[in-house]
Amino acid sequence: MKAKGIKSIAVMTGGGDCPGLNAVIRAVTKTAINKFGLEVWGIEDGYLGLIEDRMRVLQYNDVSNILTVGGTILGSSNVANPFKHKVTVGKTTRTRDVSDDCVRNLKGNNIDALICIGGDGTMSSAAGFAKKGVVVMGVPKTIDNDLYGTDITFGFNTAVTTATEAIDKIHTTASSHHRVMIIEVMGRYAGWIALHAGVASGSDVVLLPEIPYHLDKICEFVLGRSKRGKRFSIVVVAEGAKEKGGKMVVAKKVAHSPDPIRLGGVANVLAGQINERTGLDCRAVVLGHVQRGGTPTPFDRVLATNFGNMAIKLLMKGIKGHLVVQKDGKLASIPLSRVAGKIKTVPRNHHLIRAALAVGTSFGV
Ligand code: F6P
Repeated sequence: MKAKGIKSIAVMTGGGDCPGLNAVIRAVTKTAINKFGLEVWGIEDGYLGLIEDRMRVLQYNDVSNILTVGGTILGSSNVANPFKHKVTVGKTTRTRDVSDDCVRNLKGNNIDALICIGGDGTMSSAAGFAKKGVVVMGVPKTIDNDLYGTDITFGFNTAVTTATEAIDKIHTTASSHHRVMIIEVMGRYAGWIALHAGVASGSDVVLLPEIPYHLDKICEFVLGRSKRGKRFSIVVVAEGAKEKGGKMVVAKKVAHSPDPIRLGGVANVLAGQINERTGLDCRAVVLGHVQRGGTPTPFDRVLATNFGNMAIKLLMKGIKGHLVVQKDGKLASIPLSRVAGKIKTVPRNHHLIRAALAVGTSFGV
């Protein structure tokens, strides 16, 4: 069955990679071919491939055996933005709107609809294409779980599992050597990974971007544990967490990227500060991109398969310019225009913060 004049679709993965991307590509491609007899194109390297007209037809076999594989067979880019594309002429670098070129490339390959798998940056551009009349459907990806409009993004569960397993391992060194171990996890503006991995690992202190911390409170807390005979502490810190009145620790800036700031290093800063103030032996561990790699958990494989399947089904029902979401355990979709430019942060009164507080976790306040 073919509906609404859609005979051919393209799929792309934008932004940072994330476990489950291949599972979505597989679900999209197989559903499109099996259920609707569509032609499926894969765009290489996210929006960069769309700008440069780098895309290929995906056959059924191309997506076979990739369900469990991390990364993306299509490649990705977290600097490409069709509405502000970086162009260098001589010594000058400028940004240019090349979105019309992208639309032409889709038309030139007779592609009727575009599936954009990505996070907030990818969805903002997807919303821009929807405004230009392109038939677009978004699929919510990010280990950070900070995409507005959906309760959950695929990749998050895997990242939390990876972070929790790492913290569990670090626990033993903390305990053997009576140290304060500070583990930095990803999460720029939203502390979902830190909160979930912190609770799952029974960490003592959890620091989120949403709750600026007081250094004094953290030091008091770890010293208090030490005095009570608990001679070690585990501190989980989101990379975007900052001291009250302070600034995020920026590792570098990537000019012309949709979000130019690259974070990293807050754990090292904290290790130095806590050691100086308490005299306790402190070590910092930055988990970094380990959280973005590896095979997706069964939960993420299921979510990714549901999302990919739903994206095609909605398109074939004539729905366009939407993001597939999961709300209260049910699949649905919302207009991309409602998602663009927003992020979903951890509310101060979130039930998991309340549960963590109840079991004695400190948020450094
Ligand atoms: O948005 C996903 C994410 O992994 C963030 O948690 C992190 O801050 C950022 O991407 C890192 O980006 P890069 O891979 O460019 O270092």
